[in-house]
Amino acid sequence: MNRENVLIPQADLERQRGFQEKIRAMFEAREAHPAACVETYGCQQNVADSQRIMGMLSACGFSFTQDPRDADLVLVNTCAVREHAEMRVFGKLGLLTHSKRENPEQVIAVCGCMAQEEWPAKQIRESYRHVDLVFGPQALWKFPELLWQVYDTRKRVFSVADEHGTIAEGIPVVRDRGVKAWVSVMYGCNNFCSYCIVPYVRGRERSRDPEAVLAEVRGLVEAGYKDITLLGQNVNSYGKDLPRDYDFSDLLSDIDRIPGDYWIRFMSSHPKDATKKLFDTMARCGHVAKQLHLPVQSGNDRILGEMNRRYTRDQYLELIAYARKVMPGLVLTSDVIIGFPGETEAEAMDTVALAEHVGYDALFTFIYSPRPGTRAAELPDPVPREEKRKWFSRLLEVQDRQSAAVHAGYVGKTVRVLADGESEDKEFPLSARTEGNRLVRVKGDLALIGQFIDVKITGSNTWALYGETEH
Ligand code: SAM
Ligand code: SF4
Ligand code: F3S
Repeated sequence: MNRENVLIPQADLERQRGFQEKIRAMFEAREAHPAACVETYGCQQNVADSQRIMGMLSACGFSFTQDPRDADLVLVNTCAVREHAEMRVFGKLGLLTHSKRENPEQVIAVCGCMAQEEWPAKQIRESYRHVDLVFGPQALWKFPELLWQVYDTRKRVFSVADEHGTIAEGIPVVRDRGVKAWVSVMYGCNNFCSYCIVPYVRGRERSRDPEAVLAEVRGLVEAGYKDITLLGQNVNSYGKDLPRDYDFSDLLSDIDRIPGDYWIRFMSSHPKDATKKLFDTMARCGHVAKQLHLPVQSGNDRILGEMNRRYTRDQYLELIAYARKVMPGLVLTSDVIIGFPGETEAEAMDTVALAEHVGYDALFTFIYSPRPGTRAAELPDPVPREEKRKWFSRLLEVQDRQSAAVHAGYVGKTVRVLADGESEDKEFPLSARTEGNRLVRVKGDLALIGQFIDVKITGSNTWALYGETEH
């Protein structure tokens, strides 16, 4: 991909700002104070996208509400990674017929990964006629223009062309108040793991310029954000498309030089591209959290081959052995899929055994969900879901035991945590995160929210640690 075709010219973004102004002026002329309800499904990338959409909405004059019935505009940012995620979105869209009936002027918009897929877009066009606007991730930067078209013509607008994808810098962002922030460093994915829809809906890999990322992180640190996560489907291929020799480790080293009191973390990493240089950099850089999310997907070499993952079980184990050698105490998490088409019970148990052998701090576990259009969806899949569920339960049992054991190891220790909000547990009202991103519920003053504090860990279970502030 030619980089000049990737970066959206400033003049085009200026034009979009013009549409924002038009929408704002339209509401001002009506003396209206419009409210938008933005609902987000899927991964952090989608959360980050929603924050940019909210930035554009804010520039159009919108305030925000959680309740669709109070909203002049409802926007649903969708996920297509598993069938369940899509069913939830269709359920939500079904419910929105009620709010639209109460308020026929309400605009309903659907964006995100599902909008970029052929059959859901068709389904929405034909069966969800109360939806006014549909646009895919590639069209996000054109949202003001698309929204203006809806208001101007009162016709339904669809912008779901299959494009390679672009980078638009300078779109405003409405972030959550607090200490956590997300920064996309790259977009898209080139890996085409055989089960995965993401490369089809998010376009080709493209990296933001390091200067743009550095400026954004510097701004966040100055604004008081203390837990910053760099996002990409495979951050380890960051820089491959840049005109100079610069990789993700270089980016981490440069960010680490930004002065301040903050942690920087990143997700996700692909084992085929994770290097010793990356782990050495993590070990050396004081701001980089000693936490690694390294999805393995399967512990069986035949299945890894079928998944097009391009590493073996042994290569993966070697990688984490090195990471743990240079970062003792590293917090390690992963994603795994059970029930890939044609997987046997013995092969699934290789994954369970790998999880047991590695001893992850936490694991994100999924039962395979066929995604139309992917290679794996064409494969014979003879094992009934009930059988897959049994294998899945065995994995959960092993991991729950493991997580509980890891957490029990913290008890009695004093750890530095970042207090990031309120917890729903009255006895432990403060919610916090360790450097490794483990959840801690703390007996402590809510006034500590936003600060790094030392906490003595007094208890634990599978999901969380419990502690009290040190005096
Ligand atoms: N790019 C990241 C990676 O490779 O780790 C994240 C990909 S996806 C957004 C998050 C996880 O969803 C994957 O790691 C995989 O375990 C799971 N996943 C993806 N496609 C799936 C499918 N068809 N069925 C079940 N799980 C799936
Ligand atoms: Fe999907 Fe694989 Fe890309 Fe991750 S690396 S988004 S699993 S294709
Ligand atoms: Fe879902 Fe798209 Fe993320 S498919 S997991 S929202 S990249």
